[in-house]
Amino acid sequence: MVALRNDTLLRALLRKPTPYTPIWIMRQAGRYLPEYNEVRARAQDFLRLVKNPDLATEVTLQPLARFKLDAAILFSDILTLPDAMGLGVSFVEGDGPRIARPLLDDTDIKRLRVPDAASELNYVLDAVAQIKKALNNEVPLIGFSGSPFTLACYMIEGGGSSDFLKVKKILYCAPTLLHRLLEVNAAAVTAYLNAQIESGVDAIMLFDTWGGTLAGRAYVEFSLAYSTRVMQGLIRERNGERIPSIIFTKGGGHHLESIAAAGYDAIGLDWTLDLGSARARVGDRVALQGNLDPAVLLTDPRTVAQEVSKVLASYGLGGGHVFNLGHGILPQTPPENVAALVDAVHEESRRYH
Ligand code: CP3
Repeated sequence: MVALRNDTLLRALLRKPTPYTPIWIMRQAGRYLPEYNEVRARAQDFLRLVKNPDLATEVTLQPLARFKLDAAILFSDILTLPDAMGLGVSFVEGDGPRIARPLLDDTDIKRLRVPDAASELNYVLDAVAQIKKALNNEVPLIGFSGSPFTLACYMIEGGGSSDFLKVKKILYCAPTLLHRLLEVNAAAVTAYLNAQIESGVDAIMLFDTWGGTLAGRAYVEFSLAYSTRVMQGLIRERNGERIPSIIFTKGGGHHLESIAAAGYDAIGLDWTLDLGSARARVGDRVALQGNLDPAVLLTDPRTVAQEVSKVLASYGLGGGHVFNLGHGILPQTPPENVAALVDAVHEESRRYH
């Protein structure tokens, strides 16, 4: 096992000392990059891009060729898993994801099975192996999955939603049925992440994008409990190296203390939280990742540098911080502002370490 030339991200996630604060960006390979749009046009369709390991590798590496990022993230999507479970996923231009066969009743839910990642998601595992090879041990590769609850949202609603009323109706009227779905999803997510780890990813991230839409107690019962179960089933080490884990719950600020107790190494924060206050609440139990407002990147390099300084100052002295946005980068972002962001984080953060 060859050591990574830049392991700053892994060290920060495990709260070990680093010379500066590492940075990567959610959706760093995406529509704000002209070279991404070019490959996507060649693939014709987002899912064809995701399902082709050569193209997925090419796109994963694009942001690293432009910016001195401290990690690569597998180019894929959280909806590959529901697709492998037989629900049929597609992406409609300008209208987000669509599920062809959403879960409508208890028969649909009782029929669900955990897919075999090696055969049903082989294109993801092939992409991981290919990306690892192409990265040549420069920086770590992050693998990911949606959380059991966030995946259940898409599987029930059939696509995106602003209020998740179909999910909430089942949650209140037939909680046992929702628990059954979440149990299958937790087993599927655990097996999928472990397959990614065995194929070479160096860290994993669980995206609980919709957990924050739940009422307080319901969040713990239907979202956090299953994310915790996933964590407990993860492979923790490969060849003696720890595989750090990150959990991101958009709108999860009220539950920070409970999330910190779930066993993940790091918590991803959205931009609505003050980083320093969040740090005071979790203490030294976990590392924190985040949390610049993605809208800052629509301004200019000088403003970007100023806002970076505020985030770094808010976290304060010492390790355990991974710089990121509070959610995915916006498609309208000018790439030169991303270059300013990465440089500002690397330069400004040195005095905090
Ligand atoms: O971060 C990365 O660069 C890795 C790639 C990645 C994508 N999706 C690529 C993508 C990751 C980690 C995801 C996760 C994902 N997918 C989440 C969780 C993170 C989050 O944003 O909260 C969710 C909820 C999805 C589902 C999804 N995929 C939606 C709702 C959409 C449509 C909205 C949109 O931004 O267009 C997608 C499409 C998608 N996934 C794109 C990319 C680059 C855009 C597709 C395109 O090229 O048209």
